[in-house]
Amino acid sequence: MAADGLSPLAISNGLKTRFVGQRVSYYSRLSSTMEVAREEVQQGAPEGMVVIADEQSAGKGRLNRVWLSPGGSVSLSIVLYPDMAYLPSLIMVASLAVVHTIKAVTGLRAQIKWPNDVLVNGKKVCGILIESGVRGSSVDYAIIGIGINVNLKASDFTDILPAATSLSDELGRDVSRLELLRRLLAEVENFYLSLPVGESVYREWRDSLITLGRQVRVSSGEATYEGIAEAVARDGSLLLRGSDGSLNRISAGDVTLCD
Ligand code: BTN
Repeated sequence: MAADGLSPLAISNGLKTRFVGQRVSYYSRLSSTMEVAREEVQQGAPEGMVVIADEQSAGKGRLNRVWLSPGGSVSLSIVLYPDMAYLPSLIMVASLAVVHTIKAVTGLRAQIKWPNDVLVNGKKVCGILIESGVRGSSVDYAIIGIGINVNLKASDFTDILPAATSLSDELGRDVSRLELLRRLLAEVENFYLSLPVGESVYREWRDSLITLGRQVRVSSGEATYEGIAEAVARDGSLLLRGSDGSLNRISAGDVTLCD
């Protein structure tokens, strides 16, 4: 069990969810929770299974980057089996769940930078990675990976975590990782279950983005685009208006806010 008690039993006790986090696999150190969650899927993991680690030796970031997960962070992956129609909404589910969790547990107001970086006071506090296995028109599995800088000094990692912060840096005190985790799992389940009900998840995600209306630079693969981030589509893609009036639809990339 970890120093501040992230054992499966401690997490499950008092967890008010139907399925997310009802099965937990905890590691003090592993390569990447994404890798282990994929192995769990192959062994028939139930929906909502969580793989969590205190430290990752090969944490995976978006766009094939390395994700640093020192002690004091929270690194977890959640296994889901959504319908194809809901696959693009998982970034919305995950980022909104993190924003709500941070607000509820710390009182801090977090914002989302498209597509799913969570920032506090303009600095990144959480990264989210979605991986999925798709066959034809059906989804074999999806894994939501969430890494939150909770109780660590981001300035100790400035060479690898530029413009990053942690919850303890922002609050000036440590945060209970157990409370944060339990709340996060409940928020993920709530948002996930509300996907079939209508467009509330899309609308709230859109309205929580700090990106819209801003002049941005987006690197997407080999290409770089500049313009005003005009809107986001229901599938999560960004609509970027260039200075020549052109409209680019970008489904994945890295945004720099220019204004
Ligand atoms: C990003 O690049 O912003 C996404 C980072 C996602 C990191 C999380 S930590 C838990 C899960 N396991 C990983 O190896 N990556 C994700």
